[in-house]
Amino acid sequence: MIPQTKIIATVGPACLMPDILQKLVAAGVTIFRLNCSHIGPSDLPTVFKLVRELEAPEPFRTISVFLDLPGPKFRINQPEKPINLKESDEVTLKISSDKSAPTSLHLSALPNLTFLKEASKIVMDDGKIVLQVLQLVSDIEVKVTVIKGGEIKSRKGIDFVDATPPVPDITESDLVFLDLAKQLKPDAIAISFVRSAEQVRKIKRMLGQDAPLIISKIERREALDQIEEIVDESDGIMVARGDLALSLPLEKTPKVQRRLIELANDKAKFVIIATQMLSSMVTNPIPTRAEVTDVYHAVSQGADCVMLSDETAVGAHPVEAVSVMKKIIVEASSEFNFDNYKTRLKSLGTTSISDATAYAAAAACFKLGTKALVCCTTSGYSVRLVSRYRPAAPILGFTREPEVARKINFYWGANSVVANFAATSDREERDRAFNEIVYKLSLTPGDRVIILGGLQTFKIGSTSILEIREVE
Ligand code: PGA
Ligand code: MN
Repeated sequence: MIPQTKIIATVGPACLMPDILQKLVAAGVTIFRLNCSHIGPSDLPTVFKLVRELEAPEPFRTISVFLDLPGPKFRINQPEKPINLKESDEVTLKISSDKSAPTSLHLSALPNLTFLKEASKIVMDDGKIVLQVLQLVSDIEVKVTVIKGGEIKSRKGIDFVDATPPVPDITESDLVFLDLAKQLKPDAIAISFVRSAEQVRKIKRMLGQDAPLIISKIERREALDQIEEIVDESDGIMVARGDLALSLPLEKTPKVQRRLIELANDKAKFVIIATQMLSSMVTNPIPTRAEVTDVYHAVSQGADCVMLSDETAVGAHPVEAVSVMKKIIVEASSEFNFDNYKTRLKSLGTTSISDATAYAAAAACFKLGTKALVCCTTSGYSVRLVSRYRPAAPILGFTREPEVARKINFYWGANSVVANFAATSDREERDRAFNEIVYKLSLTPGDRVIILGGLQTFKIGSTSILEIREVE
Protein backbone atom coordinates (compact mmCIF):
# COMPACT_ATOMS: atom_id res chain seq x y z
CA MET A 1 0.00 0.00 0.00
CA ILE A 2 1.23 3.47 -0.86
CA PRO A 3 0.97 5.83 2.11
CA GLN A 4 -1.44 8.76 1.76
CA THR A 5 1.31 11.25 2.57
CA LYS A 6 3.94 10.66 -0.08
CA ILE A 7 7.58 9.90 0.69
CA ILE A 8 10.24 11.77 -1.29
CA ALA A 9 13.79 10.43 -1.31
CA THR A 10 16.77 12.55 -2.33
CA VAL A 11 19.07 10.66 -4.66
CA GLY A 12 22.78 10.54 -3.81
CA PRO A 13 25.72 8.16 -3.61
CA ALA A 14 24.08 6.13 -0.82
CA CYS A 15 21.23 4.97 -3.05
CA LEU A 16 22.39 5.47 -6.62
CA MET A 17 22.39 1.80 -7.51
CA PRO A 18 19.43 0.12 -9.26
CA ASP A 19 18.96 -2.47 -6.50
CA ILE A 20 18.92 0.13 -3.68
CA LEU A 21 16.61 2.40 -5.65
CA GLN A 22 14.29 -0.58 -6.12
CA LYS A 23 14.39 -1.23 -2.39
CA LEU A 24 13.49 2.39 -1.67
CA VAL A 25 10.46 2.04 -3.95
CA ALA A 26 9.47 -1.23 -2.29
CA ALA A 27 9.78 0.48 1.10
CA GLY A 28 7.39 3.29 0.07
CA VAL A 29 9.14 6.01 -1.98
CA THR A 30 7.03 7.30 -4.88
CA ILE A 31 8.93 10.52 -5.66
CA PHE A 32 12.66 11.09 -6.12
CA ARG A 33 14.47 14.41 -5.79
CA LEU A 34 17.55 15.06 -7.90
CA ASN A 35 19.43 17.82 -6.11
CA CYS A 36 21.21 19.86 -8.81
CA SER A 37 23.46 21.43 -6.15
CA HIS A 38 25.21 18.08 -5.97
CA ILE A 39 24.58 16.44 -9.34
CA GLY A 40 26.39 18.30 -12.14
CA PRO A 41 24.75 18.94 -15.52
CA SER A 42 26.94 16.32 -17.19
CA ASP A 43 25.88 13.54 -14.77
CA LEU A 44 22.24 14.54 -14.56
CA PRO A 45 20.93 12.74 -17.69
CA THR A 46 22.41 9.39 -16.54
CA VAL A 47 21.06 9.74 -13.01
CA PHE A 48 17.69 10.85 -14.35
CA LYS A 49 17.46 7.82 -16.63
CA LEU A 50 18.30 5.44 -13.79
CA VAL A 51 15.44 6.82 -11.70
CA ARG A 52 12.97 6.95 -14.61
CA GLU A 53 13.60 3.27 -15.27
CA LEU A 54 12.14 2.44 -11.86
CA GLU A 55 8.70 3.13 -13.24
CA ALA A 56 7.11 -0.29 -13.55
CA PRO A 57 4.61 -1.05 -16.27
CA GLU A 58 2.15 -2.58 -13.85
CA PRO A 59 -0.41 -0.15 -12.39
CA PHE A 60 -0.16 1.75 -9.13
CA ARG A 61 3.55 2.16 -9.41
CA THR A 62 3.89 5.62 -10.74
CA ILE A 63 7.31 7.01 -9.84
CA SER A 64 7.84 10.75 -10.16
CA VAL A 65 11.11 12.65 -10.38
CA PHE A 66 11.86 16.30 -9.77
CA LEU A 67 14.88 18.51 -10.29
CA ASP A 68 15.80 20.78 -7.42
CA LEU A 69 17.59 23.83 -8.87
CA PRO A 70 20.65 25.08 -6.95
CA GLY A 71 19.49 28.72 -6.82
CA PRO A 72 21.74 31.44 -5.45
CA LYS A 73 23.47 29.47 -2.73
CA PHE A 74 26.83 30.96 -1.88
CA ARG A 75 29.70 28.78 -0.98
CA ILE A 76 33.04 29.49 0.54
CA ASN A 77 35.63 29.25 -2.17
CA GLN A 78 38.23 27.95 0.16
CA PRO A 79 40.64 26.39 1.22
CA GLU A 80 42.72 23.41 0.31
CA LYS A 81 43.10 22.65 3.98
CA PRO A 82 40.42 23.45 6.58
CA ILE A 83 40.72 26.70 8.58
CA ASN A 84 39.94 26.71 12.25
CA LEU A 85 38.11 29.81 13.45
CA LYS A 86 38.01 30.62 17.16
CA GLU A 87 35.59 32.88 18.97
CA SER A 88 36.59 36.60 18.74
CA ASP A 89 39.07 35.96 15.92
CA GLU A 90 39.05 38.72 13.33
CA VAL A 91 39.21 37.72 9.67
CA THR A 92 38.40 39.26 6.34
CA LEU A 93 35.84 38.02 3.88
CA LYS A 94 36.70 38.81 0.29
CA ILE A 95 35.33 38.17 -3.16
CA SER A 96 38.21 36.59 -4.97
CA SER A 97 39.40 33.30 -6.31
CA ASP A 98 42.81 33.66 -4.67
CA LYS A 99 43.20 30.97 -2.06
CA SER A 100 46.73 31.81 -0.99
CA ALA A 101 46.06 34.28 1.84
CA PRO A 102 45.33 32.02 4.78
CA THR A 103 43.67 34.64 7.00
CA SER A 104 40.95 35.67 4.59
CA LEU A 105 37.93 33.72 3.47
CA HIS A 106 37.16 33.82 -0.22
CA LEU A 107 33.80 33.94 -1.85
CA SER A 108 32.75 33.73 -5.47
CA ALA A 109 29.50 34.20 -7.42
CA LEU A 110 28.74 37.56 -5.83
CA PRO A 111 29.32 40.91 -7.56
CA ASN A 112 30.05 42.83 -4.34
CA LEU A 113 29.55 42.92 -0.58
CA THR A 114 28.05 46.40 -0.33
CA PHE A 115 24.69 44.97 0.75
CA LEU A 116 26.25 44.14 4.13
CA LYS A 117 26.15 46.60 7.01
CA GLU A 118 28.05 46.92 10.25
CA ALA A 119 26.86 44.19 12.67
CA SER A 120 25.26 42.11 9.85
CA LYS A 121 25.32 38.42 10.73
CA ILE A 122 26.78 35.80 8.43
CA VAL A 123 26.40 32.08 9.03
CA MET A 124 28.36 29.25 7.53
CA ASP A 125 27.90 25.51 7.29
CA ASP A 126 24.16 25.53 8.17
CA GLY A 127 24.65 27.77 11.17
CA LYS A 128 27.55 25.92 12.76
CA ILE A 129 29.77 29.00 12.35
CA VAL A 130 28.52 32.54 12.99
CA LEU A 131 30.34 35.73 11.97
CA GLN A 132 29.48 39.40 12.43
CA VAL A 133 30.57 42.29 10.25
CA LEU A 134 32.91 44.79 11.95
CA GLN A 135 33.74 47.04 9.05
CA LEU A 136 33.31 47.37 5.30
CA VAL A 137 36.83 47.68 3.99
CA SER A 138 35.93 48.01 0.31
CA ASP A 139 33.16 46.99 -2.10
CA ILE A 140 34.49 43.47 -2.16
CA GLU A 141 35.99 43.10 1.31
CA VAL A 142 34.64 43.15 4.87
CA LYS A 143 36.26 42.61 8.23
CA VAL A 144 34.35 40.19 10.45
CA THR A 145 34.61 38.85 13.97
CA VAL A 146 33.88 35.25 14.87
CA ILE A 147 30.91 34.81 17.22
CA LYS A 148 30.72 31.03 17.03
CA GLY A 149 33.86 29.28 15.86
CA GLY A 150 34.56 26.01 14.12
CA GLU A 151 36.37 24.38 11.27
CA ILE A 152 35.69 25.68 7.75
CA LYS A 153 35.87 23.19 4.98
CA SER A 154 35.83 24.01 1.32
CA ARG A 155 32.50 24.44 -0.53
CA LYS A 156 30.42 24.89 2.62
CA GLY A 157 27.39 27.13 2.29
CA ILE A 158 27.33 30.71 3.52
CA ASP A 159 24.14 32.61 4.36
CA PHE A 160 23.47 36.27 4.98
CA VAL A 161 20.94 36.29 7.77
CA ASP A 162 19.75 39.89 7.84
CA ALA A 163 20.86 41.25 4.47
CA THR A 164 19.83 40.38 0.93
CA PRO A 165 22.65 39.80 -1.54
CA PRO A 166 22.16 41.16 -5.07
CA VAL A 167 21.28 38.13 -7.15
CA PRO A 168 19.47 37.69 -10.44
CA ASP A 169 16.04 35.97 -10.46
CA ILE A 170 17.53 33.09 -12.40
CA THR A 171 21.19 32.26 -11.88
CA GLU A 172 23.50 31.08 -14.66
CA SER A 173 23.64 27.59 -13.27
CA ASP A 174 19.84 27.41 -12.91
CA LEU A 175 19.61 28.34 -16.60
CA VAL A 176 21.78 25.37 -17.53
CA PHE A 177 19.51 23.01 -15.55
CA LEU A 178 16.34 24.60 -16.92
CA ASP A 179 17.63 23.96 -20.42
CA LEU A 180 18.34 20.35 -19.51
CA ALA A 181 14.86 20.05 -18.02
CA LYS A 182 13.37 20.78 -21.43
CA GLN A 183 15.02 17.61 -22.74
CA LEU A 184 14.67 15.37 -19.70
CA LYS A 185 11.06 16.33 -18.87
CA PRO A 186 11.03 15.89 -15.11
CA ASP A 187 7.60 15.87 -13.45
CA ALA A 188 8.39 18.92 -11.36
CA ILE A 189 11.04 21.55 -10.83
CA ALA A 190 11.83 23.02 -7.44
CA ILE A 191 13.00 26.64 -7.33
CA SER A 192 15.41 27.27 -4.48
CA PHE A 193 15.37 30.46 -2.39
CA VAL A 194 12.22 31.84 -4.03
CA ARG A 195 11.89 35.55 -3.26
CA SER A 196 8.93 36.70 -5.30
CA ALA A 197 5.96 35.57 -7.35
CA GLU A 198 7.49 37.39 -10.33
CA GLN A 199 10.53 35.11 -10.13
CA VAL A 200 8.22 32.06 -10.30
CA ARG A 201 6.38 33.59 -13.27
CA LYS A 202 9.68 34.17 -15.11
CA ILE A 203 10.71 30.53 -14.72
CA LYS A 204 7.28 29.34 -15.82
CA ARG A 205 7.49 31.51 -18.93
CA MET A 206 10.87 30.00 -19.74
CA LEU A 207 9.54 26.47 -19.46
CA GLY A 208 6.60 27.17 -21.77
CA GLN A 209 3.73 24.79 -22.46
CA ASP A 210 3.55 21.28 -20.99
CA ALA A 211 5.85 22.53 -18.26
CA PRO A 212 6.66 20.43 -15.22
CA LEU A 213 4.94 21.27 -11.94
CA ILE A 214 6.56 24.18 -10.15
CA ILE A 215 7.56 23.77 -6.52
CA SER A 216 8.56 26.97 -4.73
CA LYS A 217 11.00 26.28 -1.93
CA ILE A 218 10.18 28.58 0.96
CA GLU A 219 13.51 29.21 2.62
CA ARG A 220 13.96 33.00 2.70
CA ARG A 221 12.27 35.60 4.86
CA GLU A 222 11.36 37.67 1.79
CA ALA A 223 9.22 34.80 0.46
CA LEU A 224 7.01 35.02 3.54
CA ASP A 225 6.24 38.67 2.81
CA GLN A 226 4.37 37.75 -0.37
CA ILE A 227 3.59 34.16 0.38
CA GLU A 228 -0.04 34.17 -0.84
CA GLU A 229 0.99 35.32 -4.30
CA ILE A 230 3.87 32.85 -4.44
CA VAL A 231 1.58 29.95 -3.49
CA ASP A 232 -0.98 31.09 -6.10
CA GLU A 233 1.71 31.08 -8.77
CA SER A 234 3.11 27.63 -7.84
CA ASP A 235 1.73 24.10 -8.07
CA GLY A 236 3.24 23.19 -4.74
CA ILE A 237 5.58 24.50 -2.06
CA MET A 238 8.38 23.01 -0.02
CA VAL A 239 8.89 24.06 3.57
CA ALA A 240 12.70 23.97 3.23
CA ARG A 241 13.45 24.02 6.91
CA GLY A 242 17.23 23.84 6.55
CA ASP A 243 17.74 27.26 5.03
CA LEU A 244 14.48 28.69 6.39
CA ALA A 245 15.75 28.21 9.93
CA LEU A 246 18.86 30.24 9.04
CA SER A 247 16.79 33.06 7.65
CA LEU A 248 14.42 33.24 10.64
CA PRO A 249 14.87 32.85 14.37
CA LEU A 250 15.00 29.07 14.83
CA GLU A 251 12.05 28.97 17.24
CA LYS A 252 9.76 30.56 14.65
CA THR A 253 10.08 27.72 12.12
CA PRO A 254 7.44 25.37 13.62
CA LYS A 255 4.82 28.13 13.44
CA VAL A 256 5.82 28.99 9.86
CA GLN A 257 5.61 25.31 8.92
CA ARG A 258 2.06 25.05 10.29
CA ARG A 259 1.00 28.29 8.59
CA LEU A 260 2.45 27.19 5.24
CA ILE A 261 0.72 23.80 5.42
CA GLU A 262 -2.60 25.50 6.14
CA LEU A 263 -2.16 27.99 3.34
CA ALA A 264 -1.27 25.30 0.78
CA ASN A 265 -4.18 23.06 1.88
CA ASP A 266 -6.51 26.00 1.59
CA LYS A 267 -5.42 26.81 -1.94
CA ALA A 268 -5.37 23.13 -3.03
CA LYS A 269 -1.61 23.26 -3.66
CA PHE A 270 0.62 20.42 -2.46
CA VAL A 271 3.05 20.99 0.39
CA ILE A 272 6.29 19.14 1.12
CA ILE A 273 7.94 19.18 4.54
CA ALA A 274 11.69 18.85 4.16
CA THR A 275 15.00 18.60 5.96
CA GLN A 276 16.26 16.79 9.03
CA MET A 277 13.09 14.71 9.34
CA LEU A 278 15.05 11.60 10.37
CA SER A 279 18.55 13.04 10.28
CA SER A 280 20.03 10.91 13.04
CA MET A 281 19.43 7.97 10.69
CA VAL A 282 22.26 9.27 8.52
CA THR A 283 24.41 7.36 10.98
CA ASN A 284 22.05 5.41 13.29
CA PRO A 285 19.75 2.55 12.32
CA ILE A 286 16.88 3.98 14.41
CA PRO A 287 15.61 7.57 14.65
CA THR A 288 15.30 9.69 17.78
CA ARG A 289 11.92 9.95 19.50
CA ALA A 290 11.85 13.64 18.60
CA GLU A 291 12.26 12.87 14.89
CA VAL A 292 9.42 10.33 14.98
CA THR A 293 7.23 12.99 16.56
CA ASP A 294 8.26 15.55 13.93
CA VAL A 295 7.20 13.30 11.02
CA TYR A 296 3.98 12.39 12.83
CA HIS A 297 3.08 16.05 13.31
CA ALA A 298 3.85 16.99 9.70
CA VAL A 299 1.38 14.29 8.59
CA SER A 300 -1.29 15.29 11.11
CA GLN A 301 -0.94 18.94 10.16
CA GLY A 302 -1.81 18.07 6.55
CA ALA A 303 1.43 17.65 4.58
CA ASP A 304 1.06 16.08 1.12
CA CYS A 305 4.66 14.85 1.09
CA VAL A 306 7.51 14.37 3.54
CA MET A 307 11.07 14.41 2.28
CA LEU A 308 14.29 12.63 3.15
CA SER A 309 17.52 14.44 2.26
CA ASP A 310 20.87 13.23 3.57
CA GLU A 311 19.13 10.20 5.04
CA THR A 312 18.77 8.63 1.58
CA ALA A 313 21.44 10.62 -0.33
CA VAL A 314 24.48 9.99 1.85
CA GLY A 315 23.18 8.08 4.89
CA ALA A 316 24.20 4.65 6.11
CA HIS A 317 20.58 3.38 6.31
CA PRO A 318 18.59 4.75 3.37
CA VAL A 319 16.10 1.88 3.10
CA GLU A 320 15.49 1.75 6.86
CA ALA A 321 14.83 5.50 6.91
CA VAL A 322 12.08 5.05 4.30
CA SER A 323 10.58 2.07 6.17
CA VAL A 324 10.47 4.03 9.43
CA MET A 325 8.94 7.02 7.69
CA LYS A 326 6.22 4.88 6.13
CA LYS A 327 5.30 3.34 9.49
CA ILE A 328 4.97 6.78 11.07
CA ILE A 329 2.83 8.03 8.16
CA VAL A 330 0.50 5.03 8.36
CA GLU A 331 0.08 5.55 12.10
CA ALA A 332 -0.48 9.30 11.83
CA SER A 333 -2.88 8.91 8.87
CA SER A 334 -5.03 6.43 10.79
CA GLU A 335 -5.59 9.12 13.40
CA PHE A 336 -5.94 12.05 11.02
CA ASN A 337 -8.65 14.36 12.31
CA PHE A 338 -10.79 14.94 9.23
CA ASP A 339 -13.34 17.10 11.05
CA ASN A 340 -10.72 19.50 12.39
CA TYR A 341 -9.05 19.61 9.03
CA LYS A 342 -12.25 20.53 7.20
CA THR A 343 -13.29 23.25 9.60
CA ARG A 344 -9.84 24.73 9.12
CA LEU A 345 -10.21 25.15 5.33
CA LYS A 346 -11.00 28.82 4.90
CA SER A 347 -12.13 28.84 1.29
CA LEU A 348 -14.86 26.19 1.75
CA GLY A 349 -17.57 28.68 0.83
CA THR A 350 -16.13 29.96 -2.43
CA THR A 351 -16.62 27.06 -4.80
CA SER A 352 -16.74 26.45 -8.50
CA ILE A 353 -18.85 23.62 -9.95
CA SER A 354 -15.76 21.38 -10.08
CA ASP A 355 -14.87 22.19 -6.50
CA ALA A 356 -18.40 21.59 -5.23
CA THR A 357 -18.44 18.24 -7.06
CA ALA A 358 -15.13 17.31 -5.44
CA TYR A 359 -16.47 18.28 -2.02
CA ALA A 360 -19.62 16.22 -2.53
CA ALA A 361 -17.51 13.23 -3.58
CA ALA A 362 -15.39 13.41 -0.44
CA ALA A 363 -18.52 13.73 1.72
CA ALA A 364 -20.11 10.70 0.01
CA CYS A 365 -16.91 8.73 0.69
CA PHE A 366 -17.29 9.34 4.42
CA LYS A 367 -21.00 8.42 4.38
CA LEU A 368 -20.66 5.25 2.35
CA GLY A 369 -17.19 3.94 3.12
CA THR A 370 -16.47 3.59 -0.60
CA LYS A 371 -13.47 1.55 -1.74
CA ALA A 372 -12.19 4.15 -4.17
CA LEU A 373 -12.78 7.63 -5.49
CA VAL A 374 -11.98 7.61 -9.18
CA CYS A 375 -11.42 10.83 -11.12
CA CYS A 376 -11.62 10.64 -14.92
CA THR A 377 -9.14 13.39 -15.60
CA THR A 378 -7.29 15.01 -18.47
CA SER A 379 -5.04 17.37 -16.54
CA GLY A 380 -5.20 16.04 -12.97
CA TYR A 381 -7.23 19.08 -11.91
CA SER A 382 -10.12 17.15 -10.35
CA VAL A 383 -7.66 14.95 -8.42
CA ARG A 384 -6.13 18.07 -6.97
CA LEU A 385 -9.53 19.39 -5.87
CA VAL A 386 -10.60 16.07 -4.37
CA SER A 387 -7.30 15.52 -2.56
CA ARG A 388 -7.78 18.84 -0.80
CA TYR A 389 -10.83 17.41 1.03
CA ARG A 390 -8.82 14.40 2.28
CA PRO A 391 -11.47 11.76 1.44
CA ALA A 392 -11.52 8.49 3.35
CA ALA A 393 -10.92 6.32 0.25
CA PRO A 394 -7.93 6.06 -2.10
CA ILE A 395 -8.12 8.68 -4.87
CA LEU A 396 -7.40 7.25 -8.31
CA GLY A 397 -6.78 9.46 -11.30
CA PHE A 398 -7.96 7.73 -14.47
CA THR A 399 -6.00 9.40 -17.24
CA ARG A 400 -4.60 8.72 -20.66
CA GLU A 401 -1.30 10.47 -20.07
CA PRO A 402 1.56 8.93 -18.05
CA GLU A 403 2.88 12.50 -17.56
CA VAL A 404 -0.36 13.48 -15.84
CA ALA A 405 -0.24 10.31 -13.72
CA ARG A 406 3.19 11.30 -12.43
CA LYS A 407 2.04 14.80 -11.57
CA ILE A 408 -0.97 13.44 -9.68
CA ASN A 409 1.48 11.53 -7.51
CA PHE A 410 2.45 14.68 -5.57
CA TYR A 411 -1.02 15.11 -4.05
CA TRP A 412 -2.13 13.57 -0.78
CA GLY A 413 -3.75 10.14 -1.15
CA ALA A 414 -3.71 10.20 -4.95
CA ASN A 415 -2.58 7.47 -7.34
CA SER A 416 -3.36 6.80 -10.97
CA VAL A 417 -4.42 4.28 -13.52
CA VAL A 418 -3.23 5.02 -17.03
CA ALA A 419 -5.98 4.23 -19.54
CA ASN A 420 -4.83 2.87 -22.89
CA PHE A 421 -7.84 3.89 -24.92
CA ALA A 422 -9.75 6.97 -25.97
CA ALA A 423 -13.37 7.00 -24.85
CA THR A 424 -15.85 8.49 -27.26
CA SER A 425 -18.32 9.72 -24.63
CA ASP A 426 -18.30 10.66 -20.97
CA ARG A 427 -20.57 7.68 -20.22
CA GLU A 428 -18.13 5.27 -21.85
CA GLU A 429 -15.23 6.85 -20.00
CA ARG A 430 -16.86 6.32 -16.60
CA ASP A 431 -17.94 2.76 -17.48
CA ARG A 432 -14.42 1.86 -18.51
CA ALA A 433 -12.96 3.47 -15.41
CA PHE A 434 -15.39 1.55 -13.19
CA ASN A 435 -14.67 -1.83 -14.82
CA GLU A 436 -10.94 -1.24 -14.68
CA ILE A 437 -10.98 -0.29 -10.99
CA VAL A 438 -13.18 -3.26 -10.05
CA TYR A 439 -10.67 -5.49 -11.75
CA LYS A 440 -7.50 -3.76 -10.47
CA LEU A 441 -8.68 -3.52 -6.86
CA SER A 442 -10.32 -6.99 -6.95
CA LEU A 443 -13.59 -5.49 -5.70
CA THR A 444 -16.45 -7.81 -4.79
CA PRO A 445 -20.27 -7.49 -4.98
CA GLY A 446 -21.57 -4.81 -2.65
CA ASP A 447 -18.37 -2.69 -2.82
CA ARG A 448 -19.02 0.91 -3.75
CA VAL A 449 -16.99 3.23 -5.91
CA ILE A 450 -17.34 6.95 -6.60
CA ILE A 451 -16.55 8.14 -10.09
CA LEU A 452 -16.06 11.76 -11.01
CA GLY A 453 -16.11 13.00 -14.56
CA GLY A 454 -17.20 15.79 -16.84
CA LEU A 455 -19.86 16.05 -19.49
CA GLN A 456 -17.26 17.28 -21.91
CA THR A 457 -14.75 14.48 -21.97
CA PHE A 458 -11.15 15.78 -22.06
CA LYS A 459 -12.07 19.38 -21.37
CA ILE A 460 -9.90 20.62 -18.52
CA GLY A 461 -11.60 21.88 -15.37
CA SER A 462 -15.12 20.72 -16.23
CA THR A 463 -15.82 18.17 -13.49
CA SER A 464 -19.54 18.14 -12.84
CA ILE A 465 -20.67 14.51 -12.68
CA LEU A 466 -20.60 12.44 -9.51
CA GLU A 467 -21.63 8.85 -9.90
CA ILE A 468 -21.84 6.29 -7.11
CA ARG A 469 -21.82 2.69 -8.24
CA GLU A 470 -22.05 -0.62 -6.50
CA VAL A 471 -20.34 -3.78 -7.74
CA GLU A 472 -22.96 -6.35 -8.70
P1 PGA B 1 18.30 22.11 0.21
O1 PGA B 1 16.82 22.58 0.53
O2 PGA B 1 18.42 20.72 0.75
O3 PGA B 1 18.39 22.20 -1.26
O4 PGA B 1 19.12 23.13 0.91
C1 PGA B 1 16.10 22.18 1.63
C2 PGA B 1 16.28 23.10 2.82
O5 PGA B 1 16.90 24.16 2.74
O6 PGA B 1 15.74 22.72 3.86
MN1 MN C 1 17.81 24.95 1.01
